[in-house]
Amino acid sequence: MSEPQSKGPGVSSLFRLDGKVAFLSGATGLLGRPMAEALGAAGAHVILNARNQDRVEALASEMTSRGHQVSTASFDVTDLSAVRGHVARIADQHGRLDILINNASSGRTGTIDSATAEDFEQAYRVNVIAAFEMIQASLPILREAARRAKTSASVVNVGSMYGSVSPDPSIYGHSGANNPPYYGAAKAGLIQLTRYAACHLAADRIRVNCISPGPFPAAQYVERDPEFHTRLKAKTPMHRTGDPCEIQGPLLFLASSSSSYVTGINLPVDGGWTAW
Ligand SMILES: NC(=O)c1ccc[n+]([C@@H]2O[C@H](COP(=O)([O-])OP(=O)(O)OC[C@H]3O[C@@H](n4cnc5c(N)ncnc54)[C@H](OP(=O)(O)O)[C@@H]3O)[C@@H](O)[C@H]2O)c1
Repeated sequence: MSEPQSKGPGVSSLFRLDGKVAFLSGATGLLGRPMAEALGAAGAHVILNARNQDRVEALASEMTSRGHQVSTASFDVTDLSAVRGHVARIADQHGRLDILINNASSGRTGTIDSATAEDFEQAYRVNVIAAFEMIQASLPILREAARRAKTSASVVNVGSMYGSVSPDPSIYGHSGANNPPYYGAAKAGLIQLTRYAACHLAADRIRVNCISPGPFPAAQYVERDPEFHTRLKAKTPMHRTGDPCEIQGPLLFLASSSSSYVTGINLPVDGGWTAW
């Protein structure tokens, strides 16, 4: 005999985040900005993070002028004491954290000839350790959010297609956009951390998933080397690169109760890049 089924949240509100508190790292970047907009438009209170305070404040004013609820938290996610301090502030101000998005990333370009151990350490620190420390520090308020809400809390890590497949060196040429060896190695670690955390936090009603973006080249690379952009498109089954706003649907899916029975996945958003 099957279990009695609840009616669920109702299809019209599946993607709504009203009353939820969301923290987004790397909010001022190419993909962070549309993520912030999506969370705000869905009704969440969005806590915007990046290191550059002026850019964070500017984004906060833009979003406030569109009627979104936001606050700012400018700090370096690789600084553990800053992580703990800001999470304590969220606990004081909101008492809960429903959605945690680990999206911040930075690093130098490099090749297998030029890469150093320090490059690997830095990439691992910002992509894996910082995500882990954000999750660990936030556990009490993620658990509290899950306790108060009818739905589970949601952690979304932002990986990369290069956490699953290697860059194809033939398409990068002299674009200056070649992807270094430590970046994908760290993103692979983040995808695995996602699975580990999903399995160990499921009992606390905290879901943990990963989005792996594909080619969303910044305008500067496209303008500097249009042929590189052509090769990038040709490598993608859909024959185009992504528009940053195309990250919004997958993010809202994983952040909201529309994915209430989904945990531990790595969702590629890559126009099919990793499908062949
Ligand atoms: N764009 C793509 O094609 C692509 C493809 C695959 C995966 N991804 C992944 O998607 C995510 C977003 O990429 P993006 O293209 O939006 O990157 P981006 O434009 O370079 O933005 C990075 C963001 O992270 C912030 N940041 C960097 N280091 C930080 C730190 N230590 N602490 C706090 N904030 C930090 C930056 O602001 P500050 O410098 O002010 O701190 C900025 O807001 C990243 O995880 C990236 O690896 C992107």
